[in-house]
Amino acid sequence: MTTRPLIIDTDPGQDDAIAILVALGSPEFDLLGITTVAGNVPLSLTSRNARIVCELADRRDVPVYAGCSRPMVRTLVTAEEVHGQTGLDGPDLPEPTMPLRPEHAVDWLVDTLLAADDASITLCPIGPLTNVAMAIVKEPSIVTKLREIVLMGGGFFEGGNVTPAAEFNIHVDPHAAHVVFTSGVPLTMIPLDATHSALMTNEWIERVRALGTPVGVAASEMLDFFERFDMDRYGTAGGPLHDPCTIAYLIRPELFETRNCHVDIEIGSDLTMGMTVVDWWGTTGKPANCIVARRIDPDGLYDFIHDRLAAL
Ligand code: RIB
Ligand code: CA
Repeated sequence: MTTRPLIIDTDPGQDDAIAILVALGSPEFDLLGITTVAGNVPLSLTSRNARIVCELADRRDVPVYAGCSRPMVRTLVTAEEVHGQTGLDGPDLPEPTMPLRPEHAVDWLVDTLLAADDASITLCPIGPLTNVAMAIVKEPSIVTKLREIVLMGGGFFEGGNVTPAAEFNIHVDPHAAHVVFTSGVPLTMIPLDATHSALMTNEWIERVRALGTPVGVAASEMLDFFERFDMDRYGTAGGPLHDPCTIAYLIRPELFETRNCHVDIEIGSDLTMGMTVVDWWGTTGKPANCIVARRIDPDGLYDFIHDRLAAL
């Protein structure tokens, strides 16, 4: 099997953790490295949590690089109310012993991409886009080295989850999102419209727990903690599992309903700052710059995630 070179840029976060585990349980990928960014919790904790997850999967070989500790322009907004004070509340996991790599994540992204073949690297940002945007600003030519970016972020028909207009990853760093969405990179956005169409069930979380492995038990304890916020807010019987949808899209795209659209990022209005303005009906005449996912097959998605967790 030809493996696909993959980089995950992340702000763990329980759903980020599941995305990393699913990627590690997928032989289709060669995970070149993980870059961490401030988001759900400050950078020191996202960098800690990424290494905890790698060690949970017995993958100390995966290099982890710390990136930007704050957005490009705005002040950092975090989400301890969702993810807990550590960002990985739920399971009781040991502190990481594997070190961070010394290079800054932005420098490593630039160096790695410049050394790669054209259109060869897949990048999955599942947190604020600060690292990705800073790399593009530092070295615009890296865009030609990316096969595609598949990101979790945004919302249109579903609105936002931080403000009525903005989803968290875009809300935290809308200027970074603007850089990415105007870069010309082949781009797919997995927004709240998609992730909210496929909610976890208690039965599924119990299937994960019943794996009985360190990964299965810890993942179920992460999800027990993580899903309560969205269940309370939306009054649903289960919560969405945002970030692993990017990995699922790369391997099982047939599970996703998508459309090629023009997407703009609001960076001017305080009221709608960070809104992903999706031209779903083509009213602007502007050329499409992003494949937008709107719905996911929930049974297919959660069978996929379960099976890849079971492989660890
Ligand atoms: O809005 C959901 C996104 O924000 C997910 O990536 C979650 O981990 C948080 O970063
Ligand atoms: Ca995230």
